[in-house]
Amino acid sequence: MDKFEIVGGQQLHGRIRLSGAKNSALPMLAACLLTSDECILGNVPDLSDVNFMLEILESLGAKVNREGDKVRIRSEELTPFGDYNLIRKMRGSICILGPLIGRLREARVSMPGGCVIGTRPIDLHLKGLRALGTRIDVESGYVNAKAINLRGKEIFLGGRSGPTVLGTINVMMAAVLAEGMTTIDCAACEPEVVDVAQFLVAMGAQIEGVGSPCLRISGVKKLRGVEYSVIPDRIEAATFALAAVVTDGEVVLEGCQTHHLSAVLDKMNEAGCEIIREPNGLMVRRGKVLQSVDITTQPHPGFPTDVQAQMMVLMILIPGLSIITERIFESRFMHVNELIRLGADISIEGPSAIVKGGKGLSGAPVMASDLRASAALVLAGLAARGTTEVSRVYHIDRGYEKIDEKLRSLGARIERVTG
Ligand code: UD1
Repeated sequence: MDKFEIVGGQQLHGRIRLSGAKNSALPMLAACLLTSDECILGNVPDLSDVNFMLEILESLGAKVNREGDKVRIRSEELTPFGDYNLIRKMRGSICILGPLIGRLREARVSMPGGCVIGTRPIDLHLKGLRALGTRIDVESGYVNAKAINLRGKEIFLGGRSGPTVLGTINVMMAAVLAEGMTTIDCAACEPEVVDVAQFLVAMGAQIEGVGSPCLRISGVKKLRGVEYSVIPDRIEAATFALAAVVTDGEVVLEGCQTHHLSAVLDKMNEAGCEIIREPNGLMVRRGKVLQSVDITTQPHPGFPTDVQAQMMVLMILIPGLSIITERIFESRFMHVNELIRLGADISIEGPSAIVKGGKGLSGAPVMASDLRASAALVLAGLAARGTTEVSRVYHIDRGYEKIDEKLRSLGARIERVTG
């Protein structure tokens, strides 16, 4: 298993081009199953999760061709039966369910597994798809779905923690080929949901209210192939913005769409970071005086749970007390013990982490537990004195394209040790 060796204390300086958003690319690749025409997706990030999704599409019968960041997919002959072992390995693969039901009126996919950041139920996905007239049984680890008449319906898709991102996308992808009008209330408004909806509209789907909590989808008979480009990754942008600040550097994020990141930029601003909009991106650096801030994760446009761990690293470095409350995934504090290993003073109280900042970090061996937790450990390593070894970096390779190369190009001392 590969690991990263990071010698901390180097200021990051320079520019990086953001990669395409993982959370757009995964469901968009699945959406290519909705038509037998060829779809061409651009700005697709080179990530292990994306490669995995391409394997799943191939196992369903799609022809896949990748050249650089461009992926061509043609899904003429499809089987509704997904490979159990392939699908259950990646939670994001649940988003093939909606397209298979929309296109074939049938699907058999494995139940996605749990995950270290908390229970990851799919009850809302199933509720929405059932409401459209799909008969669904969950049996022997499989979700078996069959729709005789796929019909539009009014659906409320809110759960205990608010809307669901992939649930909204799954139901939307089935509804675009259902008969009549579907309304999804309490739809997720994340930029990636908007991106997928715009891709579907380009394919000929009729969707109104895109970006709002109420989507109105008028089913069509057929979709056509299109060429479309994935939006830049806002979570990667936030991670590099925080990397610049925690190393006291200055980084320009090329392609950064600031309106996708307003909650993060607002909190960074409140903490005293300097954020300057440039024609083609965003310049970020540490301000003269930094102060601690409190954060609560929320659905978009609130502070994203996917940036909570990285923001914690900044809070560790700023003198004072800050409270980080996690409202989306209850167990998403796996990084805390590893950050404590590097010298952080953090205690967990229910859904909150209380950070006593200002002590500085010193390098140590730490272990990555999930994608964003790994990113936080890398940031902590960049800011720490001495050497930090981050093991199990396959977690980070799932969602950050060439993070070590990009950080090195900004002056970081980070090496991948293959093992
Ligand atoms: C997506 C993102 C992930 C991000 C998360 C929240 C992808 C591939 N992943 O995950 O990076 O952290 O959104 O922004 O896009 N829930 C239910 N029932 C369901 C579905 C979800 O109760 O059927 C709950 C979840 O447990 C969680 C909350 O709803 O508490 C939000 O989860 P959801 O938005 O569905 O996350 P994902 O779409 O899986």
